Amino acid sequence: MMQLSVKVSRFDPDTDSEPRLEPWTVEVEEGARVLNVLDAIHSLDPTLSYRSSCRAGQCGSCAVKVNGEPALACTEEAADGMVIEPLDLPVIKDLMTDLVSGISSIPRINTCDCGIIPKQEDIERIKPLRDCIECLSCVSVCPAMKVTDFLGPTSMRSQMRIALDPREPGNRVREAISQGLFTCTSCNRCWRVCPKNIETPGKAIEKLREIANREGLTLPRHQEVSNLVKTTGRSVESGKYAFLDLVDEVIEPYGEVKGEVGFFSGCMFNARLPERALDMLEVMRNAGIRVIIPKEQVCCGSPLIRTGQTSFLDELKEKNIRAFQDRGIKIVMTMCAGCGATLKNDYDTPFKVMDVSEVLTCFGLPPLTKVPVTATYHDPCHLKNGQQITKEPREILEKAVERFVEMPAQCCGSGGGVRSGMPDVAAALGELRREAINKTGADIVVTICPFCEYHIQEHSDRPVKNLMTVLVQALGKEPASLQ
Ligand code: FES
Repeated sequence: MMQLSVKVSRFDPDTDSEPRLEPWTVEVEEGARVLNVLDAIHSLDPTLSYRSSCRAGQCGSCAVKVNGEPALACTEEAADGMVIEPLDLPVIKDLMTDLVSGISSIPRINTCDCGIIPKQEDIERIKPLRDCIECLSCVSVCPAMKVTDFLGPTSMRSQMRIALDPREPGNRVREAISQGLFTCTSCNRCWRVCPKNIETPGKAIEKLREIANREGLTLPRHQEVSNLVKTTGRSVESGKYAFLDLVDEVIEPYGEVKGEVGFFSGCMFNARLPERALDMLEVMRNAGIRVIIPKEQVCCGSPLIRTGQTSFLDELKEKNIRAFQDRGIKIVMTMCAGCGATLKNDYDTPFKVMDVSEVLTCFGLPPLTKVPVTATYHDPCHLKNGQQITKEPREILEKAVERFVEMPAQCCGSGGGVRSGMPDVAAALGELRREAINKTGADIVVTICPFCEYHIQEHSDRPVKNLMTVLVQALGKEPASLQ
């Protein structure tokens, strides 16, 4: 047996104005699950409300938040000090949330009376989308649902599952669009919290957007981006300076060569924020890392994949892979979180792809002097959820500034084509970031992704800095300026 001290959220909307965390110490078997801890508390206080049914990860009824993250109470291992709260859904009592409205809105198939039997290949295509246990963990974390009437990730998963089923007589894409298909920011949070690991953004939302594209239903602004990539190889137009025009192909470090990487600049750092990429080069020169920058690289294709416009994606992939492979590059470094997630998840590369924070963690930082500011960090979704990188940027930032304060992670609203296609939704999510940033009391907000930097700057009362710029300052140098 083991003794665990935990905190459990208690809330009765009939009598309480707000939830409170109640401390409990209970004895449970070694290897106990969160649900066993709740059972132990319930035996001492039968008024504790929570749900369970199958107790085997199959019914979804027991989903709660453990230390802030959604989890199934019956499969999550219990730990001393854990905090158990309800999912971020309307609370009925204590840990019981309203699941009915979420589950009842999930679209269901209208099977035709036509004698069609799904073939084995249909079943295989449907497989990645059919394991949902309707726990609503994804719904509880979806940023778009916080600011719009978006029906949510599991509803889009269901629409795509139905679209793949030959027994469905109707075309569900227009319905999915009316339910908010284009408001999803591709933040991937729903995928990361799903107990069944269903990749809803990539396997459902982007696929529904592909069907919409084939039917001429892509948003006009997204079509413009696709046309730009087709004609220029880039998803944004160049400003006065383009990074790739400013630099030599090989940038040698100041001292001994400790490592070598190829740099995939991405459209935003190339055309909109070239100074940040120049700051990165200064950091690499000080860190002893040779950087090779193939000039024939093009857009990674992320803006096309996220918006369902994939007809010429393979040409982009080929060009990019060849640019690095022809030079024998073993590690390709990205600085844009969206490009990094795309190269890692949507490409099959003959080289290793690493985010700049992984490269610096691997090869080591140059000596730094802490910048006298209080900084908070915004997790880019394509870094946190797309590449599961959260620790490295924080550790680097903590070495570069005098004080670091945490801020809860939440999508800024700029991804998935939402900033260009649904600017009101992006702005509403940006305003939520403003509130969160102000709560931290930090002097500056630090991030890595250029899309986040660009977007948050419009919705922040504090300066937004790239981590590389902060590192240049911590090296005692002036950040790059192209004015
Ligand atoms: Fe059924 Fe946990 S009780 S999934």
